[in-house]
Amino acid sequence: MKKVTLLVFVALTAVMCTVDQLDNPLDNQLIALLQRISPDGTLSHFVLPNSTDLEAIPQGPQNALSPAKIKLGKMLFYETGLARKARQASGIGTFSCSTCHVPASGFMPGRVQGIADGGQGFGQKGESRGKLSAYAETEIDVQGARPLSLLNVAYVTNTTWSGKFGAFHKNAGTENLWGKDPTTAVNKLGLDGLEAQNIEGLRIHRFVVDKYVLDTLGYRSMFDEAFGDWDVAERYSELATSFAISAYLRTLLPTEAPYQRWLRGDELALNEQEKRGAILFYSKAGCYRCHQGAALSSNEFYALGVGDLYQTGQAFATGPNDIRNRGRGGYTLKYEDMCKFKVPQIYNMADSPFYFHGSSKRSLREVVEYFNNAVPENPNAPEENISPLFHPLNLTPGEITDLTAFLSNGLRDPNLRRYVPERVLSGNCFPNNDPLAKKDMGCN
Ligand code: HEC
Ligand code: HEC
Repeated sequence: MKKVTLLVFVALTAVMCTVDQLDNPLDNQLIALLQRISPDGTLSHFVLPNSTDLEAIPQGPQNALSPAKIKLGKMLFYETGLARKARQASGIGTFSCSTCHVPASGFMPGRVQGIADGGQGFGQKGESRGKLSAYAETEIDVQGARPLSLLNVAYVTNTTWSGKFGAFHKNAGTENLWGKDPTTAVNKLGLDGLEAQNIEGLRIHRFVVDKYVLDTLGYRSMFDEAFGDWDVAERYSELATSFAISAYLRTLLPTEAPYQRWLRGDELALNEQEKRGAILFYSKAGCYRCHQGAALSSNEFYALGVGDLYQTGQAFATGPNDIRNRGRGGYTLKYEDMCKFKVPQIYNMADSPFYFHGSSKRSLREVVEYFNNAVPENPNAPEENISPLFHPLNLTPGEITDLTAFLSNGLRDPNLRRYVPERVLSGNCFPNNDPLAKKDMGCN
């Protein structure tokens, strides 16, 4: 742990002694801020582990990471061949997890709302997906909140905007609620958030691993390799499938973002403007109070009074009564939790310009201005629940520009493609495999 701080320090002094131009007070200012905020006083607190350093990645004892699980999960996540439970024949084999979590869109959908079964098309990165006319609005697979990014999900103890999945951490003591909303019955298995949710995710999104997937597409041997020590009765189950996908998702770490490279000692990875933005993030703008640690997220819930998805007027199958509008309160049913949402990670936000759980903002500058003005935009969010940390920041237009630059470039890993497989065993096109999407992507 100490090594990283030392490296940064050594690299810094070495450069400072030789090249005058690089003697940058902004670096020293940012380092001092980070050291003060860090619980252990080191910069390494903010450094993400490498995706190959499996021991360093947050994980539970039930699903210890292994290369074979990750390799399998990396295929299944993109495999449209799992889409066997589509509501209509035309939907079978046409969508995948990555339909709503598009790598090129920072593992978000690239549009206001994710549409899997019942959708068609793709565009460049998800922006052109639309509804298939053969499907009724009630039949399509959409949710009343924007899909969360899956970057840094290893740091999420309780998944979804409401944190309803996972048997531990924030959900310890909420056992009486498990099964009230039928999806949360899965918490009774006593799993971490990610592993629990991904069992439910397979069902909700109409995926199955069956004989066709195992033997016709050929995944059986990969399951054998990943779960060879499991009883055959369990080896190809939803549990195993979830464990493989969860293991892969835990490796989605944006370590090549300029800010991460700067933290590891590359002083020139951030430009002056981004450094000023980072300093604001960790001081005057107060962002660090909620966006914490290496993932810039936290497993806490706050109300910022942002708009709901139905209020965009551009979303299917949602409305004022959607339980997802209530955030944590939709799970706990407590008034004091109403409209409080989990603090999301904020790397690669520039890749998909639809921000907050209801996609109410279309640029990062608008997001920063929203925090700066601190005026709730959603009249349905109870005023007394709005976080006291959401207050006017008095940032100047120049400071807003600097902070926006840090978010849009400093926190953007330009090489997420390394997490995407070359091909999946079916040979299908992905993220989507419907005729229109194939045309968009130039497949086949
Ligand atoms: C139809 C679009 C859609 C598809 C397909 C989809 N997701 Fe999601 N995903 C979402 C939405 C929407 C959320 C946020 C849900 C909420 O907060 O209620 C989400 C949230 C998540 C989260 C929680 C992240 C966090 O930080 O809490 C994980 C993990 C996840 N999805 C994994 C998957 C996996 C694995 C698959 C494939 C089995 C998948 N998703 C398929 C839309 C989708
Ligand atoms: C009081 C805690 C808190 C503070 C302070 C805070 N945030 Fe957030 N942030 C959140 C929560 C909670 C959300 C999700 C809100 C929602 O969608 O309902 C969020 C969402 C975001 C998003 C959108 C993420 C996405 O997936 O759409 C960005 C970007 C962001 N914050 C950046 C910032 C910046 C920059 C600052 C400082 C100016 C900041 N935040 C300060 C809690 C906070």
